[in-house]
Amino acid sequence: MKNIINVKHPLLQNLVTKLRDINTNSYDFRKYLSEVGRILLVEALKDETLKEKEVQIWVGNYRFPVLDEEKYVFIPILRAGLPMLDGVLEMIPLARSGFLAIKRNEETLESILYYDRVPPLKGKTAIILDPMVATGGSLDYAISVIKEKNPERIISLNVIGAPEGLNRISKKHPDVKVFIAQIDEKLNDKGYIIPGIGDAGDRAFNTE
Ligand code: URA
Repeated sequence: MKNIINVKHPLLQNLVTKLRDINTNSYDFRKYLSEVGRILLVEALKDETLKEKEVQIWVGNYRFPVLDEEKYVFIPILRAGLPMLDGVLEMIPLARSGFLAIKRNEETLESILYYDRVPPLKGKTAIILDPMVATGGSLDYAISVIKEKNPERIISLNVIGAPEGLNRISKKHPDVKVFIAQIDEKLNDKGYIIPGIGDAGDRAFNTE
């Protein structure tokens, strides 16, 4: 699984434990997802190439490195990916955002796309935001939909994954770099990650 990068950092582990805690309310849950997203983004872009820009500073005009912020398109997978968007947009405020809504048929676990509002991706870096990689079905599907839009590259930021889903992504999309905070043990027979955090969408938006 060469393209799966398990980002190990005490701050991430601490946040994941807070997400697991069933006494974490939905407000805090969203906040922790957002913080995990931000830390993963920092890691994902650590070797990014910068361009130069002339900046007027207190002693005159100097050239300094800047990120080409408009090159990035964040694509949260609704609904659980939404809270991660806040964190990453704080880091790259001029990035664009696009939205994909994918649900799964709870019986067959098959993925269904029901909303696609992604801006043009040609020449862009598409960054998928999706907390859970369980069977990998929705991430696999999202990557396929995004690939059809011809981005320059695709990165995926995820919070918790099961080996089954990560293996699937690694085999099917070895060109996509996946940055993930935690790889858990397994899936249960309903396709939920064990120990996991439960249903991330329900926990983030206080639904059942
Ligand atoms: N989706 C979730 O929100 N949680 C899981 O454990 C698996 C899929």
